[in-house]
Amino acid sequence: MANRAQFSSRIGFILAAAGSAVGLGNIWGFPTQAASNGGALFLIVYLLMVFALAYPLLVAELMIGRYGQADPMTSLRKIWPAQRALMGLVGLAGMLAVSLILSFYAIVAGWLLGYLIAPLCELVGLTQVAQWLETFGVARNLLLMLAFMWLTVMVVRSGVTNGIEKWSTRLMPVLLILFVVMVIYILTQEGAMDGLQLFLIPDPSHFSPKLIVSAMGQAFFSLSLGVCTMMVYGSYLSKSANLPKTAAQVALLDTGVAFIAGLLILPAMFVAQNNGVAIYDASGALLASDTLVFSVLPAMFESMGGVGILVSTLFFVLMVIAALTSSISMLEVPVSCTIEELGQSRHKAVWWIGCIIGVIATVIVVNFESLFGFVVTMTTAYAQPIIGLLFAILVGWIWHRDKVLAEISAGYPDVQSSLFWRIWPWYVRIVCPILMLLVFFVQ
Ligand code: TRP
Repeated sequence: MANRAQFSSRIGFILAAAGSAVGLGNIWGFPTQAASNGGALFLIVYLLMVFALAYPLLVAELMIGRYGQADPMTSLRKIWPAQRALMGLVGLAGMLAVSLILSFYAIVAGWLLGYLIAPLCELVGLTQVAQWLETFGVARNLLLMLAFMWLTVMVVRSGVTNGIEKWSTRLMPVLLILFVVMVIYILTQEGAMDGLQLFLIPDPSHFSPKLIVSAMGQAFFSLSLGVCTMMVYGSYLSKSANLPKTAAQVALLDTGVAFIAGLLILPAMFVAQNNGVAIYDASGALLASDTLVFSVLPAMFESMGGVGILVSTLFFVLMVIAALTSSISMLEVPVSCTIEELGQSRHKAVWWIGCIIGVIATVIVVNFESLFGFVVTMTTAYAQPIIGLLFAILVGWIWHRDKVLAEISAGYPDVQSSLFWRIWPWYVRIVCPILMLLVFFVQ
């Protein structure tokens, strides 16, 4: 398609792709997992997973998209033209999975929106509203989820350059700056060093095969792999970009932010403890999962008095920004498919797909107990690795080596003599699938 949108600059692409990668998975998921899996031990295994497994697959997924220069379903068909129907189905599966991911992601992001607004409401005397915003309930979950979905729709509606790229390049630097400010602040607080120790000194007694599985899942989620998100972003990338290098920059940014989030959240837990907030549960284990961000941190902000409102606002602005640059990348997958497969206008496609995902999220909100965890597990523990494995097999076994070389040479003319080209093709062909199957069967 001659007039298909493209990211206008390489840095625009990097910030958008890093915006997709950096999200709740980094700021909430990673520190939580690290806190409950032996701190630095989890960090080490995670780093191994990112570089040994996620990075090569990120290159593969971006490459399918850039080669296709089309929505994921069409791009996949171009990789294996003999199996058009099957490839369409794989694209469809990715699209379905990412829509489900967005529907639970929007619920969590909605809570963050609530925690952002609540202290401000309290400040102007709306104490009851503030309380409602911070208390789990169907109406509150629903309203906040819809508000967040609306934000996502508004950005994606403006298209790739004017919506996604523009907002990613605006928001990502703000996010990085806020982050550094927060870390410096937290590290000067009493108790912070205990958290730092937990995060940076490995505790080998926590090692288990399960930890490897968790680290892999975390790496896949964090780099937005396996559900066509990176594929669709790759399809808006110009042929002059050096893929291995660009992907490495995205992976480094993502991992860097996860690391900094660990420097923020784990010390913050111990600062909270120092301020009298409980951070261990009855059995003596560290409070983890949702309680971390949603009860420990707000309690800590509260215990800080006046400055707490400021710090809390900064923190939740940061979370919402991170969530938004991720959610737009998820919505773009079904939207691009609808635009290009069904010939609809972006405006229309965004609205009706936004509505469908809003309805799915509503069903989850109303049946929270039975559906939320189920949808999270099905999409992140199964769909992402399984479809990701299919992408690796496609690139490694189906796509002709010469075509892969031609695609990667665009933007990287001397790739053939590089270390990357000596390792990566057989790596994606053999090592990645074996690693993934191993990890999958260990669990
Ligand atoms: N990677 C993002 C995070 O860490 C979330 C995300 C965006 C995502 N697109 C995705 C997760 C696609 C899985 C699949 O929060």
